[in-house]
Amino acid sequence: MKKAIFLNANSDKLFEQVYDYLLERIRRGEWKAHERLPSVRSLASEFGVHRLTVFKAYQLLKQNAKVYVKDKSGYYVQPGSTWPPVAVQQDPIISAYVHDSHLSEIHQVEAVYQFSKALLDPNLLPNRYFSEYVKRVFDLYPKVLGTYSTTQGDRELREALRGYFTGRYHFELTEDEVLISSGSQEAIDLIARVLVKPRDYVILERPTYSPAIDIFTRQGANLIPTEITPDGYCLEQVEELMRKYKPRLFYMNPTFQNPTGYTVPAEQRKRLVDLAAEYRCLLVEDDSYPDIYFGAAPPAPFFAYDTSGHVIYIRSFSKYIAPGLSIAMVACRPGIMKYLLKAKSLTDSGTPLLNQKIFLHYFFSERMQQHLHKLRTALSIRKGIMEEELQSTGWQWNSPDGGFNLWIKLPGSASAGMDELLASCREQSITFVPGSICDPLREMNSWMRMSYSYLNEQQLREGMRRFIGLYQEMFE
Ligand SMILES: Cc1ncc(COP(=O)(O)O)c(C=O)c1O
Repeated sequence: MKKAIFLNANSDKLFEQVYDYLLERIRRGEWKAHERLPSVRSLASEFGVHRLTVFKAYQLLKQNAKVYVKDKSGYYVQPGSTWPPVAVQQDPIISAYVHDSHLSEIHQVEAVYQFSKALLDPNLLPNRYFSEYVKRVFDLYPKVLGTYSTTQGDRELREALRGYFTGRYHFELTEDEVLISSGSQEAIDLIARVLVKPRDYVILERPTYSPAIDIFTRQGANLIPTEITPDGYCLEQVEELMRKYKPRLFYMNPTFQNPTGYTVPAEQRKRLVDLAAEYRCLLVEDDSYPDIYFGAAPPAPFFAYDTSGHVIYIRSFSKYIAPGLSIAMVACRPGIMKYLLKAKSLTDSGTPLLNQKIFLHYFFSERMQQHLHKLRTALSIRKGIMEEELQSTGWQWNSPDGGFNLWIKLPGSASAGMDELLASCREQSITFVPGSICDPLREMNSWMRMSYSYLNEQQLREGMRRFIGLYQEMFE
């Protein structure tokens, strides 16, 4: 009998290793949809493991809808289990390590009418004043360029943020429970790497922030979607998912969610924090847009309700304060923080100190508060323009109370032609985000995300007219 190739005393159970290995090969397309997989007996002999081990791996693949059983004749590949051909790299050495980033692929498309970018129009930032803060930082810290930050982040900034969140939301926080990361994307990635092992269950909103799907998929997680609506979540369903799957975490973006703009109401926040504690499921709260509201301010973050350490709070400051600085904060309890620090120290030696110091002086300035006020007004006007242009179309959307995006449902006829619509738009220098890449199930084909934050008012109007005209030519 051959020696088992999977033996790894520190790793998962043997059948789980066989599962991972088979799943990876299915995903790479080594066996096609509906193709019969090798028999339990032959694989057991090939791997040098007991037949029961292979059988259990197949059972798990079946349970996770990666294979199906036909007429007791064996296991067959379930359609949809393989990665699309573009995801499989030509070079076999690279292919083992590269994973897709669907949104960044869309962002790489150069276009005049960028409705795909949930970014702030740089003209809306007080650019003229930035240089003042940069100069002030060099005067105050002449050696700033000659020094690394600590991995956890600049102590002065962490202390200032602790004070800010305690004052604003009554967070109970010490500066050691604050980590500065290079944007919230890095924070999601660190959290996934530290907390999620292959086959762990992870709840995601449906739809959700597209890169989160890619990150948790890369981690090998089993994704469980739960709908987000203008009224928040269905808590009965979330509780049922927690009971049934014992998920490791629930990644959520509950305030002016990207892509929908929906906000989870305060009553649900308290209840969900209690559920998280009951089922020992961590809540990863990604808070990227809390200050961009057009009416009343949104409810306090989940973190404010958490007394048992089940919420990890990520607050990005890049989206509307200073995208070029890429600063975000993670707040969590020491038990998790110590692992995040280890992971961060393998990524870099801390977020650039210069960026942290500039951010510190800029964010806590009076000008910043005035800037936020103007920003809300400017973005609300842009949202209004986009909605005005959409009025005549009959498409559906819920007007969001904040954030950067409209989540729009096109009539059924467009869903089959989404790829063609995207391609024609590119030819006309227009981009948008197709709903399917925001859906953990990769469906939602008749939805799309359009951002009103990046283009100026004139471009917004012109771009929308061109987009709607193109759509009507293709589908009406
Ligand atoms: C919900 C959400 N999370 C994270 C990010 C990434 O933000 P950052 O620039 O801080 O990495 C974005 C950016 O669009 C976002 O919308």
